[in-house]
Amino acid sequence: METHISHTDTFKAIMGSYPTGVTIITTTDLEGNPAGLTANSFTSVSISPLLVLFCVDEKAGSLSAFRESGRFAVHVLAEDQQEICWRFASREPNKFNDVKWSLSERKLPVLPDCAGLMECKTVNVVEAGDHTIFIGEVEHIEKTDNEPLLYFRRKVGSIPANWNE
Ligand SMILES: Cc1cc2nc3c(=O)[nH]c(=O)nc-3n(C[C@H](O)[C@H](O)[C@H](O)COP(=O)(O)O)c2cc1C
Repeated sequence: METHISHTDTFKAIMGSYPTGVTIITTTDLEGNPAGLTANSFTSVSISPLLVLFCVDEKAGSLSAFRESGRFAVHVLAEDQQEICWRFASREPNKFNDVKWSLSERKLPVLPDCAGLMECKTVNVVEAGDHTIFIGEVEHIEKTDNEPLLYFRRKVGSIPANWNE
């Protein structure tokens, strides 16, 4: 018997099997409250100037904050940051409660101990289907030696021990 699998299901299956890193992207809303979400749509765009992008679902509660603030901070998560990864992927309204964070010089909420941090100024906002693409220029950048967290088939984990074999 022929099975019918929709393009959407095949698309989701392919993208779900496309391994990525994981980021938490934060910003500050108009009232000065921190906002943010877990995102794996983050990617680099340009070297000169340094540009990055990420995509936000039209249903995301933090979308308006990203639109209004004009700045965002990308945290490339470290392998031991699984808990915070799921927390920022939840609908929890007070994601920043019980989480260590501080306000940067650029007035962005910054989480400690990530693998990398980029604070960006939004230079372009593109509507694309049910997502909005935010393109930002990197204004401040920091790196640690922490290994990154990976995302693959709805699970997160560390780089496999045999990676370099
Ligand atoms: C690994 C992972 C990657 C995700 N990537 C994205 C993404 O790139 N864009 C997006 O809009 N949502 C993404 N999500 C889902 C959001 O994190 C989730 O919908 C979150 O609840 C949105 O929070 P908010 O409604 O407070 O903005 C991802 C979730 C996970 C677990």
